[in-house]
Formats: sequence, C-alpha cells, structure tokens
Amino acid sequence: MKRKVIIDTDPGIDDALAIIFALQHPDIEVLGFTSVGGNKGLQSTTDNVTRILNYFGSDIKVYKGSEKNYSKTVDSNFNLSIDYSKEIIHGSNGLGSAVLDKNDALISDKDAVTFILETIEKYPNQVDLITLGPLTNIAFCIEKNFDIMKQLKSIHSMGGGIHRGNRTPLAEFNYWFDPHSVNKVFELGEYLPIFMIGLDVTHQAVLDMNDLTFMQLIDPKLGQLINQMLDSYILNYWENQRILGAVMHDLTAIVGYMYPELYTEVLDINLYCSTADDVTIGQTIITDTAMVNSHIPMKLNVEVYKQHVIKDIFGQEALNEYTTYLNNE
Ligand code: BDR
Ligand code: CA
Repeated sequence: MKRKVIIDTDPGIDDALAIIFALQHPDIEVLGFTSVGGNKGLQSTTDNVTRILNYFGSDIKVYKGSEKNYSKTVDSNFNLSIDYSKEIIHGSNGLGSAVLDKNDALISDKDAVTFILETIEKYPNQVDLITLGPLTNIAFCIEKNFDIMKQLKSIHSMGGGIHRGNRTPLAEFNYWFDPHSVNKVFELGEYLPIFMIGLDVTHQAVLDMNDLTFMQLIDPKLGQLINQMLDSYILNYWENQRILGAVMHDLTAIVGYMYPELYTEVLDINLYCSTADDVTIGQTIITDTAMVNSHIPMKLNVEVYKQHVIKDIFGQEALNEYTTYLNNE
C-alpha cells in the first residue's frame, strides 16, 4: 500500500528534487502540496510547486500557505529581515535557470492550514508530513487544532543542525526563518515521532558532478532539467563553501523517510530552537532532559542513498548503468 504524505515546501531547488522524487516514487501517494514562504516569497514558492507538477503532468493540488510568519504573530520583537533580490542561491525565480510553465489551475481555493487539518481528520494516524521549508504552516495548524495534529503518523522536517548552521554560523535557514514555529511543532514530539533532518546529515548527501553528468547521459530531458535547476546552486556552494556538487538537503528528508535504514546513527533527544534576540536565534539546541521530542539522524549511508535517488527517479535500468559506471571507475 502506498504511504500517504503531505509535503510542505518552498521551492527552492533541493525542494524541487524532493518533489520529483516523491512524484516518481511508486510507493508514495502525495495527498497534496502546501506552500510556505522561505527560499522565495509565498507566491513564488506556490507557483514553483505548480511548475514542477505541470512538467510531470500531475494533477495533485497545491494549497497556499500562510502569508504571516508564525514568530511574528507570537513575538512582537521578532524581526525577520530578508531581501529576496539578494537571495540568489536558488536563482532569481527559485528554480535556478530551469524555465517551466506555472499552472494556476493546480492551486486550490483552500488554504494550507485547512487542507492539512481536514486531511488528517479524514485519515487519522495514516498521514506522514514532510516539511521542506520553514515550519510556519504547521505551527498555525497546531495552534488551530492540537488534537487533530496529534493524529499525524509522523513528521520529517528538514531544518536545524546540531554542529553547524548555514544562515548564521549557528542557525540553519528554515528554522532561523521562523524559530517560534519550530518549538511549537516539537510540542507534538510527545505524541508522534518527529525526525529532524538537519545539516549534520544533509551535508553528507552531496550529488557530485559525475552523478549530475550521469543523470544527463541516462535521461537527457529530465537530467538536463535537473542540471539547469542546479547551476546557480552549485556555483553558490563552490564560491561560498568550496563544496563541489549539490548538497541535497530536502531530497535527503524524503529519501530518508522512505528508507530509514540509510540513517546509520540517530540521536533520540530533546530539542529546542533558540528564539533569543541574539546571535543564537534559530540555533537548534539539544537538552539532556527525559522527554524525547525528536529523532535526529547524524550519519547517512551515502552510497546507498545515491542508488535510491537514481533508481527511484530514473528507474532500475538507470541504476544498473550507474553500478556499471562505478565498477569501471
Ligand atoms: C534549507 O533551506 C533552503 O534553502 C533549502 O531549500 C532547504 O530547505 C537548507 O538549509
Ligand atoms: Ca526548502
């Protein structure tokens, strides 16, 4: 039986790869996509989800997320300043230099919070929530109806980092963007498993330049699209961090959701996100209390991870070719 998921996302290039993986995977049933502002503003991220769906001819609906940042609504001192004209890592439109048509018909009239709550009510204890952006929408859902949210099966959230940040030296982008929402969401950790897929593990998930060339050779159309999406992203990681390849944060969240055995070391721990008005804001801090509210993978089997990515996006034959190529190296 297919696994029922809701994907909350802010595409974003690594979001796009995660969405592609979900659409191509035979065992995933995406009940709906919900959009959130993050990598780009809310309208752009919403449109970008439709661009990817449209390319694949999918009719799954997109539910627009909250215009408001949750932290701003609960903390009058919270001051998110983001100038999207300077946010260039995901390219000017959020999908690198890939040019894809949007499809407004895929955007539902229903908002994300209503959709998420109604869907969990319809399928109690059956829905897994995968979050690839700030936790804004999910915090609003919890504020609106905690009891329904307790009936989620699990949450897999890309964000945070125990030993590293990326937006600041201490904080990862998604959690930095809306830190109060993180603590709100981890309140659910008492009732259902929450996996924090943080930078410690996503930085191990690098598709290198050979992997990307391979994709283009094995499937010129989709491989080229993926390479076009990734051009500015790769350049940015090279220029700023001297990493050569594509660090697949969001893709890791969904691949690890399907294949949890890829995580070879996991912390079961209590997590808190700093909301202090200082350099720590957005930092994920682990505390040594009895109450475990999160599971945090720290190590990834990269080799097998890549095999799943190739097989589930491009098919078994592509994996055979990939194995041959590796053996011939
Ligand atoms: C996260 O921030 C965004 O830039 C990516 O899409 C990912 O969700 C990584 O810190
Ligand atoms: Ca994202």
